[in-house]
Amino acid sequence: MRRRRLLLASLSIAVASACASESSDGPTTATGTPPGASAAGTPLPCDVSLALTRCHDCHSSPTKYGAPMSLVTYEDLVRDAPSTPGVSTLQRALERMKSTTDPMPPVPRERASFKEYGPLDAWLERGFPPGDAAEKCAPAAPDAGVVTPACEPDLVVRAESAYSLPEGTADVYVCYGLDVPATAGKRQVTAIAPRVDDTAVVHHIVVFQADKTESPKPHKCKDIFPIDWKAIYAWAPGGPPFVMPEEAGLPMQEGGPTHLVVQVHYSNLKHEAGHVDRTGVDLCTTDAPRKYDADILWVGGFDFAVPPHKTATVECKFDWGQNWTKYLPLQVVQSWPHMHQLGRKLTTDLVRADGSQTPLGHADPFSFFDQAAYPVDVTVSNGDKFVTRCTWENTTDKTVTWGEETSQEMCFNLLTYYPRIPLPQFSGPAASYLSDCKMQP
Ligand code: HEC
Repeated sequence: MRRRRLLLASLSIAVASACASESSDGPTTATGTPPGASAAGTPLPCDVSLALTRCHDCHSSPTKYGAPMSLVTYEDLVRDAPSTPGVSTLQRALERMKSTTDPMPPVPRERASFKEYGPLDAWLERGFPPGDAAEKCAPAAPDAGVVTPACEPDLVVRAESAYSLPEGTADVYVCYGLDVPATAGKRQVTAIAPRVDDTAVVHHIVVFQADKTESPKPHKCKDIFPIDWKAIYAWAPGGPPFVMPEEAGLPMQEGGPTHLVVQVHYSNLKHEAGHVDRTGVDLCTTDAPRKYDADILWVGGFDFAVPPHKTATVECKFDWGQNWTKYLPLQVVQSWPHMHQLGRKLTTDLVRADGSQTPLGHADPFSFFDQAAYPVDVTVSNGDKFVTRCTWENTTDKTVTWGEETSQEMCFNLLTYYPRIPLPQFSGPAASYLSDCKMQP
């Protein structure tokens, strides 16, 4: 979280300078301003506006999903970047679009392409002349935050009451629970759709199945990623809903309630007051169980040490060998790479007997701030191995090893798969003990 602290430290100055420039120029952005046109007048060239289309999912006016500024009008681009007084937002935008470690759009979205930063580069080079006021630009892309699975949701998960964001807090992780009573027969979850309420500040949503009841009132999460909970789904803006293939479902607890927990990460870098939110998820479930139960397999490992002020990589191999072949083949449908704040990259590859490799979730770069689950569709067969590599940049003065504290690290890839392997060795993080980990030279 080094980058975030840096960002926050400079934010108070940045806010002050943004306010100052607004009072002298008058308000420059208006709600609902079409792309390219600006309320204050200076038109933005259409090719520049078009190149920023994907940015407008978040850097719209007003902003969404925690983005600190709009990127809609001419003035938005030429004023100082919120984090860096003296550097234009346009310049910062280009830096972040080309960054391999801290890219915009953020992971898991696709990196910006030449088609996107090319027009901005050219415009900067020409000294960013205004566009042609008479030209009408194409409208922005539709909101990517609202997604609907094909099924009809039958289980609504919301907090008991709305959550009021405390003023002056930039990032907060809020949790609430819902106990779903057991049904007479078996019940499976087949899809999960995010339902974002206050789009300005919701940064991501995580769904867990906990081991006990969590309060239904929204409260600060005690632990951001408790490893004894089953982490089912993570949504980031623009991400897809969780949809199981037709032959599989995630079983709910039999003979007792299922303790669902929703975690909402709010990001309010602008320290705006008055945000009240009731974000949750809708689930599709079925009482007519599908052929297979799904589960989550944790690959990765515990055995690593990152020396102070060093970048280091561990490689953890999980070999299906002879012991587990009777559970193969199995189908992997989602990958969720998980590390802590020093994590820079996490990849898992399926290595086949013939040496060929298939990616099973690559978070490159990994960003603790922008965690998400990625859909995959890979069949695991006899002779296959999983190879997970985690890279950290240890910016601290201490050797960092595995642990649940935020100052410690993790190297897990949570794979949603079916059919479920009904062995305790495959339950939760236990499966990672089956891996063989070696630090890379
Ligand atoms: C999914 C939402 C989302 C999308 C899409 C997105 N951003 Fe961002 N952007 C954010 C958030 C949240 C932050 C603040 C955290 C950070 O800096 O990483 C941010 C920060 C930034 C910053 C840093 C501002 C500063 O003060 O230094 C720049 C520049 C930026 N974005 C540019 C872009 C550009 C250009 C695009 C499109 C190519 C884009 N972003 C797409 C959410 C988004």
